[in-house]
Amino acid sequence: METMNTAQQQKNNVINNMSLNQENFNNRHKLLKQKGQPDIFSKAYQFIQVEIAKQSNCYPYYKTIDQNEGPVAIIDGKECVMLGSNNYLGLTIHPEVRKAAVEAIEKYGTSLTGSRLLNGTHILHEQLENKLAEFLGKEDALVFTTGYQANLGLISALVGKYDTLIMDKMNHASIYDGSKLAKGNCITFEHNDMMDLEIKLNGLPENTGKLIIIDGLFSMEGDICPLPEIVRLAKKYNARVAVDDAHAVGILGECGKGTSHHYGLEKEIDLVVGTFSKTLASVGGFVAGEKKVVELIKHFGRSVVFSASLPPASAAAALKALEIMQREPDRVERVNMNADYMRERLVNLGYDVGVSETPVIPIMIGNEITTLQMWKELLNEGVYVNCVLHPAVPRDESLLRTSYTSEHTRDHLDKALKVFERLKKKYRI
Ligand SMILES: Cc1ncc(COP(=O)(O)O)c(C=O)c1O
Repeated sequence: METMNTAQQQKNNVINNMSLNQENFNNRHKLLKQKGQPDIFSKAYQFIQVEIAKQSNCYPYYKTIDQNEGPVAIIDGKECVMLGSNNYLGLTIHPEVRKAAVEAIEKYGTSLTGSRLLNGTHILHEQLENKLAEFLGKEDALVFTTGYQANLGLISALVGKYDTLIMDKMNHASIYDGSKLAKGNCITFEHNDMMDLEIKLNGLPENTGKLIIIDGLFSMEGDICPLPEIVRLAKKYNARVAVDDAHAVGILGECGKGTSHHYGLEKEIDLVVGTFSKTLASVGGFVAGEKKVVELIKHFGRSVVFSASLPPASAAAALKALEIMQREPDRVERVNMNADYMRERLVNLGYDVGVSETPVIPIMIGNEITTLQMWKELLNEGVYVNCVLHPAVPRDESLLRTSYTSEHTRDHLDKALKVFERLKKKYRI
């Protein structure tokens, strides 16, 4: 069996002779699929791409952020314009949100040490559920420990053996992972392609349960799902509709109420999924909908039944952020204005920003190595963005994901634009 020492030595020799180029970067995902490796750790010993990227100072992940103050962050001891967070309304730095979390810890402690079903339900969860249901115009809501778990819980409880889950191909990974917990059939349709959705719905037996689940605002592309057409097809084929509004809350609709409010379709949507880890300045997630359906998810959603509940401080922060979001609707206007400002200027510089129409603006680069190099140069010049490579996006469709907050000033944005202007000329993308 390959031992750690010899394998490590071989690996170091290989890495020392390698530079950051596409060939050395390819095939990294094939490691997981290799046959005939007697040591289950072999794939780890052969995984060298991270070292290659680190050696070239181009490793973009698990980057330590010393301090994140909303529109700016301290990284490697230096102040950067933060264009890589989902803190859309800047509420993580709001003094009232911080105070609410501190007070909750002092009053209720740091953890509830159990699942919602048993010893982990707290008065703050119930308050948050009531406020969310009221805010979204739904009968009830259920709070989870993360948004990821909200999708897992919803799907594991609802999609039984004879049901079908119908997903947009570009949906978030948590919906895909949730589909692995579904007992029934799971199918996908092409991104935002209503003709394909209709073909898929038409192919399903009439007398089976159907749930269409889509992201409201797509987290990498920054586009919005065509909800009116989805609702029309759902009615025609007797399907229910769930919208994952993780990114849409705080951005779309009156007071940031999300995708269904943006389209005036709040009564037509059966379930809304969301997270507290973006606009709501905390961590956690929720599903909102009909009381009876929420009741079922409460008892059959595996991720809520078998995992510890949201700590009180996180619930308190989300509650306060929700209150401020409604009290200060100009934040929602500002984040969208900042996004429009940037989108227009990035396009004028010649960048391809895809189909973005929201404060999530991808900059399409294509080549992985160029994307890594640009990411690093941006950081060196005080601009943090997210580097998105395969498998998060298809190969050769690498991108730099930028996102904006209501708290970015024109100075912040213009500083970033200057760097983008220089890089556009240098890399001739
Ligand atoms: C569309 C979507 N759904 C769900 C999630 C998961 O949310 P959380 O970070 O709360 O687990 C995310 C997070 O990125 C997301 O973008």
